[in-house]
Amino acid sequence: MLNQIQEIAASIAPRLIEIRRHLHSHPELSGNERQTASYVAGVLSSCGLQIREGVGRVGVIGELAGEGIDSRLLAIRTDMDALPIHEQTQVDFASRYPGIMHACGHDVHTTVGLGVAMVLSRLEQRLPGNLRLIFQPAEEIAQGASWMIQDGAMENASAIFSLHVFPSIPVGTIGIRYGALTAAADDLEIVILGESGHGARPHEAIDAVWLAAQVITTLQQAISRTHNPLRPVVLTIGKITGGRAPNVIADQVKLLGTVRSLHPETSANLPHWIEQIVASICQPYGARYELNYRRGVPSVQNDPILTHLVETAAQEVLGENHIQLIPEPSLGAEDFALYLEHAPGTMFRLGVGFLDRQNYPLHHPLFNVDESAIYTGVVTLASAVYKYWQKK
Ligand code: NI
Repeated sequence: MLNQIQEIAASIAPRLIEIRRHLHSHPELSGNERQTASYVAGVLSSCGLQIREGVGRVGVIGELAGEGIDSRLLAIRTDMDALPIHEQTQVDFASRYPGIMHACGHDVHTTVGLGVAMVLSRLEQRLPGNLRLIFQPAEEIAQGASWMIQDGAMENASAIFSLHVFPSIPVGTIGIRYGALTAAADDLEIVILGESGHGARPHEAIDAVWLAAQVITTLQQAISRTHNPLRPVVLTIGKITGGRAPNVIADQVKLLGTVRSLHPETSANLPHWIEQIVASICQPYGARYELNYRRGVPSVQNDPILTHLVETAAQEVLGENHIQLIPEPSLGAEDFALYLEHAPGTMFRLGVGFLDRQNYPLHHPLFNVDESAIYTGVVTLASAVYKYWQKK
């Protein structure tokens, strides 16, 4: 059966490159993926899948009915949105829309999802259970996954697979990781409320600038002394605003930051930990504070059994030497984590790096992919899907 998957994938490879180029030249920003979605729906229905459009605002779901001898439903998630970046590549299928670019490879993800639908719908034998292909909008703003889930994308799903392109992995190879792949990413806002006064008479005021400086310094030092160094936390204050004039003591300073962590327990404790520190600095001096800790997406934790399944599928269709074990997780965030609150799953990295020329990072205006990676992504995923129902 894996041979048949490889044969069909090879035969549709040129068509998939056309699809990817069409998507690449017509990028749409998060939440506005209307043309992309209707294009996706068109391809899915031509493969005989049952389509639901307008899921999660502008997302699409395609379902490939199996034989019904296995009740487990497997989902695959891909994302469709582009970024507000002006493309600088000279490729002839470059973005037609100034200031919008598929610089994170979501055009490739969408194409791989469509390729899986094309391959699996052409197999002689039907799959034992149902396969659901989820094409979500708005991954870059970490909203699309929750929109899709609210609209039932994970209903009855027993497991879910996903992938992300990676330019530092060579084309033809995939990267897998057991356990944490990406970080939980939360937003932090701290407002220090002091009392204004003359710069020459600090004892009559409460200096919010001085307290803000202590809050930042203490948070950074305390992280290294109070958290298990084997469970990373990164706290970055990226923006400070406050104060009125050089000779006026500031009554208010606002700090905005991001907090990243890998372990769920660490992540759960962070708001309380930060508040204790802020309070311990403000209270002795009579300052007040407001703390707003907004949960972003949790950490992607790859399920060991499903990760092993993708690994063994890839070994068979790509060869032993074409799998890299990713040595360490990324502190980037990925809203795929939200699907994993409903079913176990795994996300792998698809190598898209050119072997013979410079590769630019994700989100770079010169980012491009070696398109033969589309075949790699399709055979890996389609084989993993096929193997899923083989395993009990
Ligand atoms: Ni991305």
